[in-house]
This record gives sequence, C-alpha cells and structure tokens, in this order.
Amino acid sequence: TAPLIPLNDGRSIPQLGLGTWPLDDDGAERAVLDALEIGYRHVDSARRYGNERGVGRGVIASGLPREDVWVTTKLDGEFQGEDRAVAGLEGSLELMGLDYVDLLLIHWPLPARGEYASTFRTFAGLRERGLARSIGVSNFTAEHLRALEQETGLVPAVNQIQIDPTIPREAQRAYAAEHGIVTQSWSPIGQGGDLLQHPAISAIAEEHGRTPAQIVLRWHVQQGLVPLPKSQNPERMRANLDVFDFVLDDAQLARLGELSQGPDAGVDSDVDGH
Ligand code: A2P
Repeated sequence: TAPLIPLNDGRSIPQLGLGTWPLDDDGAERAVLDALEIGYRHVDSARRYGNERGVGRGVIASGLPREDVWVTTKLDGEFQGEDRAVAGLEGSLELMGLDYVDLLLIHWPLPARGEYASTFRTFAGLRERGLARSIGVSNFTAEHLRALEQETGLVPAVNQIQIDPTIPREAQRAYAAEHGIVTQSWSPIGQGGDLLQHPAISAIAEEHGRTPAQIVLRWHVQQGLVPLPKSQNPERMRANLDVFDFVLDDAQLARLGELSQGPDAGVDSDVDGH
C-alpha cells in the first residue's frame, strides 16, 4: 500500500490512487475491486466520469472498512453554485451508495462563470455536515488558487492537475507548496502514450530494473505529488503501486527534468474537460 501524506486540514491521504477515467460503471466496479485487493486504498472518480455507481459498488464489495478507503469525487460546471453543489454531492453519494466522500473537488474552475468561490464556500458547509471530509479543487492555476483564497479565506486541501515530466506545472506547484496545498497528478503517466517510450525514461528504467511507468510514477512521488494512474489491468495496477521501494538519484531526476516542454504547455482552465 502507499504511504500516507498529511493534508492542511489535519487528515492524511494515501500518496497514490487509482484513476478511473474513462471507465464506465461496470469497468470501474471491476477495477476498483481489483485495485483494493491488490492494496490500493485510494480511488479517484468524478460525477462527469459517469462511473460513481460502479466505484461505490467496488468499494462496498471489497468488504474493507469504509474508513480504510479514500474516495474522491468531483463536481463539474453543472454543479457550480450553492444549491447546485449541495444537490450535486447528495446525488453523488446516492449514486455511490456511500455516506460521505473523503475528498470533494471542484472539477474545473470555469472562471468566466465566476462561481468557483461561492461553490467552494458551499463545499466548506458540506464538510461541516460531514458529507465530504476534505475539500479541494482541480485544474486550478496559481491565479485561480490566489483568487479563491482572497475571496473566501479558505485554502483547498488539494489541487488536482495534469502533470507528467513533460508538463511539470512548476508555477501551480510552487503556489501550492507555499500554501500547504497538496498537488495530485492526473494522467501521471501521460495516458500510457509516447511518454513511456522516451529514451531517457527507458534508460533510467533499465538502470533500476523497473518499467518506464514505474520510473515516471516514482518521479511524482519524490516530489511530494499524489499520482492517480488509471489502469484496468491487475498486473499494471500492481506495478504502478510498487514504486515505494526504490529511489531516483539527483542525476536521474535532472535527466527527467529535461523532458519539460515549458511552464505553461497545454493549460486551459476554461473548459469542462475530463
Ligand atoms: P490499461 O488500463 O489497459 O492499463 P494515465 O493514468 O496517465 O491517464 O494513463 C492511463 C493509460 O495508461 C491507460 O490507457 C492504461 O491502460 C495505461 N497504463 C496504465 N498503467 C500502465 C503501465 N504500467 N504501463 C503502460 N501503460 C499503462
């Protein structure tokens, strides 16, 4: 299992979780059940994924005590605004068959809507009610994080953004680190595409006798990130979790640092994406 790392609200989160996009209910139920059996204790979903029912079924079918599994969901633009956010979480809990989520995120800031601050204030109320134990955001830039704190006086526990060695998001991570916000990485292994073929990563993989995906996930872990790799294949799930018993050295981290395509490659917060 993954070690726990502390959040700014006094709780602790497993440092690696299972991503579930784009699994449907049946696929998610199977994947979550397999992952929990393998030793995962952290599962990431979203209303928009359309698989909360399956995720909840997998968690319940595992037979694990509810408090042993970290469950995250996110509410997208349809659920921004006070009443919509409350109804949104109540709907997600009903779909999942759970009494609470461990972490509730604003899926995308949608700054043109001007509602993320009031939505987050509502999330704080949902946390008070015990329906979400921690609250945070996703796909926020440093500017959105700053505006959120200025408008609400609240600091999210996490910001979940797309990160891999080619898009390391230094500005968002620096802001988060200064404010005690944990950064989670979605699509941490570049959706299993070209990234894993990169010669620098293959070379480091060979040096450690590990797979390229394990090298990339270890890169996330050593920077205090919380990667959320998706897999529905038990063998790859197992390998992806098995990254807590080796260490990349400074030279290897520097070689991975060279894969960066620049600070702002591919950032677009004003769309309701996955
Ligand atoms: P699969 O579900 O068949 O394992 P990301 O989390 O970065 O979005 O990547 C998810 C994609 O990467 C999925 O297509 C997944 O396929 C694939 N994948 C997951 N783990 C590995 C791995 N260890 N090696 C190669 N591909 C992987």
